[in-house]
Amino acid sequence: MFKRVVLHFTLLVLFICAALSTIAPGNKAKGKSKQLKIKSGAQNESVHDLNLIDVEPSAKEILINCQAYFKDTSIRNFNNTVLGYTTPWNSHGYNVAKIFSKKFDIVSPVWFQLIKQNGKYTIAGEQDIDSNWLNEFRRQDNAILPRFVFEKFSDRDFSLMLSKSTERTKVSKVIINLCLQHGFEGIVLEYWSQLTGRVDNKFLVNLAVDISKALQERNLKLVLVIPPMRKELPNAFTDKELDQLYTYVYAFSLMTYDYSSVHRPGANAPLYWIRQTVENLTPANSRDFDEKRRKILLGINMYGNDYTPDGGGPIVAHQYLELLGHVKKRLSYDEHDEENFFEIRTSSGRHYVFYPTLYSINERIKLAQEMRVGISIWELGQGLDYFYDLF
Ligand SMILES: *[C@@H]1O[C@H](CO)[C@@H](O)[C@H](O)[C@H]1NC(C)=O
Ligand SMILES: *[C@@H]1O[C@H](CO)[C@@H](O)[C@H](O)[C@H]1NC(C)=O
Repeated sequence: MFKRVVLHFTLLVLFICAALSTIAPGNKAKGKSKQLKIKSGAQNESVHDLNLIDVEPSAKEILINCQAYFKDTSIRNFNNTVLGYTTPWNSHGYNVAKIFSKKFDIVSPVWFQLIKQNGKYTIAGEQDIDSNWLNEFRRQDNAILPRFVFEKFSDRDFSLMLSKSTERTKVSKVIINLCLQHGFEGIVLEYWSQLTGRVDNKFLVNLAVDISKALQERNLKLVLVIPPMRKELPNAFTDKELDQLYTYVYAFSLMTYDYSSVHRPGANAPLYWIRQTVENLTPANSRDFDEKRRKILLGINMYGNDYTPDGGGPIVAHQYLELLGHVKKRLSYDEHDEENFFEIRTSSGRHYVFYPTLYSINERIKLAQEMRVGISIWELGQGLDYFYDLF
C-alpha cells in the first residue's frame, strides 16, 4: 500500500519533471538535472526522518538527497569502533572527517610508504601530509593513525626484515620517530596480503608482534590490515593468526571488499561472505571472544564498480551519480548478496553498476552491531554525504 502511494508520487514527480524538461531550453540531460531540486549540506531532517532507507531506492531520490546530511552530526547510531580512511586522491574525505568527526574514533590518512633505499629504511610520502587539515583536525578527539605500506622492498629486503629481529627493530624506530615528530597516536600497517603465501605466516605474525611491542613502549597503537576469507587463499589469515595477535594489536582492519572483479562481475561485498569471514576468525569457543570481536573492524566499501563489456572498473561518487542520471526507475536489489545495482545502456555502451546505498550500508552496520565488531570505511572521500547519517 505504502509502496503504491510512493510509486504514484514518483510517477507524478517524473511527469512534472518530464513536462518541465520539454520546455527547458538546450541540452536535454542538462535541462533535466536542472529541474531536480538537489539538496546539499546540513538539513533539519535525517535520512531516517525522510524514510530514505529503501530496499529499492529510486535514482531520483538518491540524486536529490545524497549530498545532504542531518545537521546534528554529533549523533552516533553506532557505538563500536569506527575507522575511516582518507586519501590524497579523494580530498573530499578530509572534509567528511571534519564534518562527521564525532562518528569516527580513528581517522587513517593514507600518506606513507616505508621504503628500503641504499640499505636503509626510510619513510616516503611526507609531501602528502595535509598540514592545514591536520592542524584543524587535531582539535577533535579522534586518534589519527596514518596508514603505512612497504614499498621498494626486494624479496631479499623482505626476507632480511622477516628473519632478523634487529632489522625489525630498525623498522620500528623509523615508524616511531615519524609518529613522535608529527604527533600521531600510532599507525595502521598493511602488508599481510602482499606477503601471505610467499612466506610462512609465522614470520608475518612476528613482524606485527615486534612492531607492536616497540610502539607500545611509546604508547603508540598498531592497527593491522588483514585480508578477508578467500577460496583461492584459504589460510591467508585465520583464527589461529588472530589468536596469536589480538593481545598485541589495537584493532584489525578487515578488508571485506572486492569479492567480485571484472573477471567475475557482481556485488562488491556479499553480506553472507562478510558474516562468514568474521565467524571464521572468531569461532564460538575461542578464548576472549568478545575482545576479539571488538577488535575486528569490518570493512565497508564506499566505492562501487561499473562493469562494461570491455571490463570496466571501480567508480567513486561523481562517476556513480553520472551513471545514475541515466536510470529511469528504481535500483534493483540482489537478495543473495544484499547489494543494490542497476543496468543501463548509454552512448558508451552497457553498464552493470554496483555501488553502496543507504540500505546496503545500513544492513552492514546492523550486521556489525549484531556481531559486536567495529567498522572500517574505505574511504571517506568516495561515498555520499548522506551515508554518514547512518553511523
Ligand atoms: C531548518 O529549520 C529552521 C527553523 O525552523 C529554518 O530556519 C531553516 O531554514 C531550516 N533549514 C533547512 C535547511 O531546511
Ligand atoms: C551510543 O552511546 C550513546 C552515549 O552513551 C547513547 O546515548 C546511544 O543511545 C548509543 N547508541 C547506540 C546505537 O547504542
